[in-house]
Amino acid sequence: MKNPRILMCPADHYGIEYEINPWMSRARGAAPDRARQQWRDLHDTLVKLGVQIELMTPQPGLPDLVFTANAGLVFGKRFFSSRFTHPERQRETPHFDAWFAAHGFSVERLPEGVYFEGAGDALFCGPILFAGYRIRSHAAGHLHLGNALQRMVLPVELIDKRFYHLDTCFCPLSPDEAIYFPGAFDAYGRTVLQKHIPKLIEVVEKEAERFACNAVVVGKKVVVNAGSDQLAADLQQAGYECLSVELDEFIKAGGSAKCLTLRLDGEDAAVW
Ligand code: ARG
Repeated sequence: MKNPRILMCPADHYGIEYEINPWMSRARGAAPDRARQQWRDLHDTLVKLGVQIELMTPQPGLPDLVFTANAGLVFGKRFFSSRFTHPERQRETPHFDAWFAAHGFSVERLPEGVYFEGAGDALFCGPILFAGYRIRSHAAGHLHLGNALQRMVLPVELIDKRFYHLDTCFCPLSPDEAIYFPGAFDAYGRTVLQKHIPKLIEVVEKEAERFACNAVVVGKKVVVNAGSDQLAADLQQAGYECLSVELDEFIKAGGSAKCLTLRLDGEDAAVW
């Protein structure tokens, strides 16, 4: 097995300072100490699984920098930097780019005006890049990546604003296996997933709303937000073990375990 390496950014400056998805409410806000503790629990859980964690420096005024999944797409030593839809998040890009440039990656940019939100919307399952579009990323961005990487890209439309990034409703487990929440896709998107991924595990709406699909996969261990009991049972059937970490402070921003991480050495499910 690969030696997993994951990029995270401590939650020191995390908070709800603007509202750019249906989960975020400035009035409700986040509890800073609780958020920091939950982030630490996720970090420690991954370390115990043998993951080497790389840390970015948190920045005041960038509350969503914790969601490193959105930095960009990693492909070998190439880093395709995100072009965020919202100006609030566009300010994160110089920090992500600087980190990747300083760590031996070539930093590549998508064409001007083409939005793309990184691993949040683009996930390899086997040799195919599954790519969510409409709410955040543009299909044009995914096609650009397909050309640049010379890989097959299958864009799937995201139809439910609550599941605005692909990683909120789809998670590859291995090259031929993934979990997904069918209600986040239209009939065509569901067919695309069913046709190209031999084993699909469905997540029920109640657990999808608790970000059960937003899982970090390390070998046969799957780390998710607490309360994904049905998924945990289904994963066990499929030979996986589910580890749960309470991450409700991050759901207030529309994120959970997977969003808080970015795999630097390629996901286990990816075949490049
Ligand atoms: N508040 C952030 C946003 O709306 C959350 C990002 C969650 N990240 C993810 N990969 N789904 O952009």
